[in-house]
Order: sequence, then C-alpha cells, then structure tokens
Amino acid sequence: MILVTGGAGFIGANFVLDWMASSDESIVNLDKLTYAGNLGNLASVRDDARHTFVKGDICDGTLVASLLDRYRPRAIVHFAAESHVDRSIHAPGDFITTNVNGTFSLLEAARAYVSRLPAGEQPAFRFLHVSTDEVYGSLNAGDPPFMESTPYAPNSPYSASKAASDHLVRAYHHTYGLATLTGNCSNNYGPCQFPEKLIPLVIANALAGKTLPIYGDGSNVRDWLYVGDHCAALRRVLEAGRPGETYNIGGCNEKTNLEVVHALCDVLDSLAPAAASYRQLIGFVQDRPGHDRRYAIDAGKIERELGWRPAESFETGIRKTVRWYLDHPDWVKDIQSGAYLQWVERNYGDRPSLPGRRA
Ligand code: NAD
Ligand code: TYD
Repeated sequence: MILVTGGAGFIGANFVLDWMASSDESIVNLDKLTYAGNLGNLASVRDDARHTFVKGDICDGTLVASLLDRYRPRAIVHFAAESHVDRSIHAPGDFITTNVNGTFSLLEAARAYVSRLPAGEQPAFRFLHVSTDEVYGSLNAGDPPFMESTPYAPNSPYSASKAASDHLVRAYHHTYGLATLTGNCSNNYGPCQFPEKLIPLVIANALAGKTLPIYGDGSNVRDWLYVGDHCAALRRVLEAGRPGETYNIGGCNEKTNLEVVHALCDVLDSLAPAAASYRQLIGFVQDRPGHDRRYAIDAGKIERELGWRPAESFETGIRKTVRWYLDHPDWVKDIQSGAYLQWVERNYGDRPSLPGRRA
C-alpha cells in the first residue's frame, strides 16, 4: 500500500483514480480538505475498500506517524500543498506552513518510520515529492529550457516555498539516506482543476458569459501538460526512479497565455456555441506582481532513463478538458460557493482592466 497526501486536490485525485484503475495496491489518502480539497473528486472510489480517506494535516506529526505504523506503506507520494501563485501573493503564510513546515514534518515522520521497519523492508521504501518547474524561476525568450541542473531562482512566495521543500527533500536523502524522488513538473490541466487556475477559470467564466481576464498583455509563456500524463510520469518515477534524483516533467507544449485562451475559446465555440465567439469575452487586466515570463522544461532525462513521454497533445488534452467541464456543471457550481466568490472579489476586484488592448 502507498500513502498519498493531498489526494483530494486536482493532481492528487487524478493520481488516486488512475492508480486505482491500473493497480491493485491500496491507498491511504491524507488530505486536510482546504478550499482546494474536494471529496467529490473521489466519488467514484468512495465504496472501494482499497481506498481509505483520512481528513488531516500533514503538519500533524503524531497523526502521520500513527498512519505510517498502522498501514505500513511502501511509499509516500506527497502532493499536499498550497498551490496557487496569486493566493501566495495575497497571503503567503499558509504556503510556508504547509509547503515548508508540512513537508519537513512528513520527512521527519518518514525517517522515523523507515528506521522502525525491519532491515529487509527498509531499502524498498520511497518518498516521492511532487514539485514544480517554478522553482527554477523565469526564462527569457530564446533561453534554453530548465534542466535538472538549472540553479534554483524562485520568484513568488509559492515557488519559494516549493523550492524550500525540494531542498529539505534533497537534504533528507544526502544526510539520512532517505530514498527520495522528486518530480518538477510544468503547468498541469485537466479534469477536477479548481477554477482559480487559468484554464478552468477561463472555461467557467466563458460558460457564465463573464470576462476572461488575461494578466498584462497575455504574452507570458507556460509549458502545459495534461494531468494524466503527469500521473503516468509519477507512477514511472516511483517504479524505477533512482533514489536521490530529481526528474523534470513537461509537455513540450510552450504557449503564450493568449494562445491558450484562444484555443479554449475555439474549442468552446465548437462544443458549446454561443451567439458570438467566446473570444469576445477576453479582457486584459493589470498584471500579476513579479509575473514570471516564461517556463520551459527539458524532459530528456525522464525520457532517456525511464522511457516516459506524454501521450496527450495540447489539442487533444484541451478538448478532453473542455468536454469534462461541460459534462460536470454541478462540480463547478458546488465549488463556486461563498469562499470562492470572496477570492474572486479579492483577486480581480481591485485589478483594473487595461484599456486599448485587443485580443
Ligand atoms: P491543489 O491545490 O488542487 O490541491 C492541494 C491538495 O492538498 C488539496 O486537496 C488540499 O486540501 C490538500 N492540502 C493542502 N494543505 C494540506 C495540509 N496541510 N495537509 C493535508 N492536505 C493539505 O493542488 P494541485 O494543483 O493538485 O497540486 C498538487 C501538487 O503538485 C502540489 O504540491 C503542487 O505544488 C504540485 N504541482 C502542481 C502543478 C499544477 O499545475 N497544478 C504543477 C506542478 C506541480
Ligand atoms: P496559473 O494557472 O495561475 O498557473 P501559474 O501561475 O502557476 O503558472 O496561471 C497560468 C498563467 O496564466 C500565468 O502566466 C498567469 C496567467 N493568468 C491570467 O492571465 N489570468 C488569470 O486570471 C489567471 C488565474 C492566470
């Protein structure tokens, strides 16, 4: 069995569902159910005896130790985090608490647990840390993509907290010999992503006839990976990754934000046509402070060493994603509760629109 943290969030829930579909091995899923955690994401495995959900905090070392002793997992797959850059700008404290202190607490619990395992079981244990390409900072046009050897240069409280957690993971391997693995992945998209992030926000706003807010001039570049491909990469890293190593995971799909929003509008125009093209809803708003210009990933190491490469193209992945949101209007409606509306007011309410910019 494996212990997953943050398995009620976007990527964690996709990982749990994919795992249950492709393996008989059981999962204990520890999640605090913050605003981003949603048991609705796990509805299809609610009655599956192989999945045990525990509501709790990764910062609670006593709870984590008791789960490890009770379930005796062969691995921890660590997704739990505060994950949204804009929220980290408004309120960084939770990012330090969960991403830094929480990861530290989990590493401590894992180290103590491994030392209690019989000697014969210790070498098989793995700690798989799920991280981001944002730890490498920002690229200019023409710069080579991030490699595993690229120096860390995080720019937002979010990326700084993830960088800190990556360093702790690295230190636990080097100092204590904990068999850690780290995946640094580019921007994910797909089913169950909370509609604060660009792609689900644009889909939800478009369907509600609201403005599609683009920060700045829309020329910032991200590399986009379909979430199912990220989950497959993580399964492969867990299976065959070399302890102590980090693996960059990316989709080879660099797009400007404007290209992404145009692509979403075009798919929506074909799957859910409205009176006018959804592109009419695009509006440019004040930029994010410290907005990283470009992320790009060199995923050559994971391809060479572990044989992983993405199965989904941007076009097929985006179409699947839009289809999923069209088929799950209640999922979005349930999330857009009071707390979500407060966030929208906080992030977009005092962000002036930029006149004179056209899509
Ligand atoms: P998410 O915000 O959708 O989900 C995070 C989950 O963690 C939620 O279920 C939440 O309830 C849980 N959680 C938060 N604090 C917790 C705590 N203290 N204890 C236990 N559970 C807690 O995030 P996501 O987009 O699914 O990202 C998952 C991981 O992948 C994160 O570590 C993130 O940094 C990383 N990542 C995300 C992306 C992306 O594009 N979304 C890309 C690369 C890496
Ligand atoms: P996001 O989905 O928040 O991911 P990240 O900041 O981790 O890359 O944002 C993706 C890109 O989209 C990023 O360049 C910021 C931009 N963006 C907008 O232009 N408008 C929005 O309303 C949001 C949420 C993001």
